[in-house]
Amino acid sequence: MKKIIVGNWKMNPLSQKEASEILSSLKRFTKNFKKTEVVICLPFVYLPSASKNQKSSPIKIGSQNVHWEEKGAFTGEVSPIMLKDLGVSHVILGHSERRIAGETDETINNKLIAVLKNKMTPILCIGESERDEDGKFFEFLKTQLKIAFSKIKKSDLSNIIIAYEPVWAIGKSEDEYMKGEELHQMTIFIRKVLSEIYNKKDAWEPRIIYGGSVTSFNVEDIVFQGQVDGILPGRASLNPIEMKKILQIMESGKNK
Ligand code: PGA
Repeated sequence: MKKIIVGNWKMNPLSQKEASEILSSLKRFTKNFKKTEVVICLPFVYLPSASKNQKSSPIKIGSQNVHWEEKGAFTGEVSPIMLKDLGVSHVILGHSERRIAGETDETINNKLIAVLKNKMTPILCIGESERDEDGKFFEFLKTQLKIAFSKIKKSDLSNIIIAYEPVWAIGKSEDEYMKGEELHQMTIFIRKVLSEIYNKKDAWEPRIIYGGSVTSFNVEDIVFQGQVDGILPGRASLNPIEMKKILQIMESGKNK
């Protein structure tokens, strides 16, 4: 299966013009990389323009949030049907920056159900804020997963991407990422929790990707040592030169 890069632009850049320019440069070289799927998750306001050129583009378009209801009196919200109608294929859910703003495991679960119902791919973010010596963060992650996956059918698992993003590694310098070996242990832990919720076989269905200060400096360790299915870069995804380097490394001979 192809690896995946999910770029999270967060609340950047500051103009439509800049957004279109970055996207065009990304498009220019992305088509040369055949073994990696590229998704860019833009602020809502840039989605119509980004999705207009999407059919001729190797880049898929994603959003950074959605509401779980399909329509009605929800001021300021965006419905999954609206996103689907625009041609959005992926939706980031439960990013730590949204959890800080009040999103709960329960609302994230509702959103996951809504995104799957509307035939888009949810990218469910989980991650501990800090690591305690007693390992309580394992319980924390388990709870995030158990609630997020409640009422999710086995048959939907292969459409879900789990983004493991330890909050302490987000927005840091490029050597403060989670090292590959430890990351690999975390993917095993996540699959173990999934096998408790479902079973051993189905636990392998969702893809697991990593986010937290990914750059061309650390991506090799993350993807190959960490044995993840892809990455979720924030800052690096706004920089086409950096994205090209990342893609080159992900598609290098070591990716076998
Ligand atoms: P970063 O952001 O790559 O800038 O650390 C990652 C994220 O928050 O998704």
